[in-house]
Amino acid sequence: MTDLQTPNPKTALVTGGSSGIGLELARCFAKAHRRVIIVGKDEAKLARAADDLRGSGAHEVIAWSIDLAGEDGGARLFARAQEHGEAIDYLALNAGSGAWGKFIGETDWKLELEGIQVNNISVVQAAKLFIPAMVQRGEGRVLITSSVVALGPSAKLAVYSATKAFLYAFAEALREELLGTGVSVTALMPDLTQSDFFARAKVDPDSITAKEPKADPAHVAEIGYEAMMKGRDHVVAPHLSAAKMAAASLLPTWLTTKFARAE
Ligand SMILES: NC(=O)c1ccc[n+]([C@@H]2O[C@H](COP(=O)([O-])OP(=O)(O)OC[C@H]3O[C@@H](n4cnc5c(N)ncnc54)[C@H](OP(=O)(O)O)[C@@H]3O)[C@@H](O)[C@H]2O)c1
Repeated sequence: MTDLQTPNPKTALVTGGSSGIGLELARCFAKAHRRVIIVGKDEAKLARAADDLRGSGAHEVIAWSIDLAGEDGGARLFARAQEHGEAIDYLALNAGSGAWGKFIGETDWKLELEGIQVNNISVVQAAKLFIPAMVQRGEGRVLITSSVVALGPSAKLAVYSATKAFLYAFAEALREELLGTGVSVTALMPDLTQSDFFARAKVDPDSITAKEPKADPAHVAEIGYEAMMKGRDHVVAPHLSAAKMAAASLLPTWLTTKFARAE
């Protein structure tokens, strides 16, 4: 019996599910006939994404417009789930943003602050609030979207790369603490991926970062989804980038940071 026929199908909640990697993660759950809840800020964009996902086989698609920035984005997300009596089986904490430029003199503090709040505070708060019910049920899968920049800091994305390093450390430690509970935590570490991220972060269109080839978000999401379902600790996507990151890990950080100068 597929989830489409099951009276009580499993539910996936995907933050940042309205575009890019998150929309494609949501599509993976839709194709598996789950109930899918996507979360984003922009209502019109969310509605378009929800329509798109309805054609992908989801048991049901629900869209919640919630601003995850501020001090309590994760708590607002949890409150919405409580209000609707939603029990979450798969939690993909994927929403995120960055700010491009030199930290001193170039970047926009408002964008950086939103990045810290959405990438870190909302994720930690959501994990704190959603995971206890999973532990109580003895099952649950959590995916946290970090980045390859967690493994090698990027100049001109100083705050963003630090938020992603935070997420990677958090995901790995949380996973360890949850071993034996039936709840897994997986960190997804995408390399450069085609999405709205670059425009939102105001990446200089003449920079190497803007011009470098980018992975297909659907491919990245499939790798993340599969790793999440297998309960792996982390996964680099696309797989080819894993070799690059393994080689980089043999070098001192000062050197990889120079290589990664995102000019
Ligand atoms: N693209 C890359 O090269 C790359 C590489 C490594 C990691 N990542 C990570 O992958 C994740 C997804 O990014 P993406 O590349 O797919 O970019 P994207 O297309 O810009 O997607 C970002 C998603 O996050 C949501 N979001 C951002 N700020 C929000 C807020 N304040 N409140 C609620 N939702 C918010 C957006 O919704 P709204 O548009 O409605 O705000 C959107 O759904 C991020 O965590 C990013 O850091 C991306």
